[in-house]
Amino acid sequence: MSTRVQWLGHSALWIEGAGKKILIDPFLTGNPKAAAKAEEVSADLILISHGHGDHVGDAVAIARRTGATVASNYEISQWLQQPLRGLPEPKVHGLQHGGAFLFDGTIRVKLTLAFHGSALPDGSNGGNPCGFLLTFPDGLRIYDAADTGLFGDMALIGEEGIDLAILPIGDYYTMGPDDSIRAIKLIQPRYVLPIHYNTFPTIAQDAEAWAARVRSETAAEPIVLQPGGSFEIPGR
Ligand code: NI
Ligand code: MN
Repeated sequence: MSTRVQWLGHSALWIEGAGKKILIDPFLTGNPKAAAKAEEVSADLILISHGHGDHVGDAVAIARRTGATVASNYEISQWLQQPLRGLPEPKVHGLQHGGAFLFDGTIRVKLTLAFHGSALPDGSNGGNPCGFLLTFPDGLRIYDAADTGLFGDMALIGEEGIDLAILPIGDYYTMGPDDSIRAIKLIQPRYVLPIHYNTFPTIAQDAEAWAARVRSETAAEPIVLQPGGSFEIPGR
């Protein structure tokens, strides 16, 4: 059983594993680096890390078209069910930090801490931002930190055994390269994929320079993708 992660640009990720397609933070329309169109992308499960427009993105339209299940924090799940969005209650999971659910009997999705904002695009209360810890049936674990600064309890997440950590490196709105290196040392993942950079001038970064630092300063293998590029996580 293999698990493949495709970077769709910014924080948008498309993960295929255990026969399921998971879309995270699907900001495609209006994303200058989007590698897919909202009208084309498929999904069984959509995860929304927080309320900001560059993460909620096209989630509602894609959920309506595909019938995908959507998981987020409780406040965003309520907003998704309001008439303007109208996602059906059985298809929406509203969790909170530390809580998890088993999607379709296959993939365990747990909400992790994140330090950031979460106001929704219309100004509604989007609760607190989160990251995601995904556990596949073969034990493979992916941690998507989403938008956050560095925090020491990343070490607790690392204790679970992370195969792939997905970390923001853009700085300005999230941790930058220096703190991402410290995060990798806390999490100790096998592989690390940088996101949330080079979408806008404020978050411009040199990913190759970052990767060289990851190789020399940590035990993790950096995976630098171009938008649209993908990575198949090797088994342990
Ligand atoms: Ni944000
Ligand atoms: Mn963001």
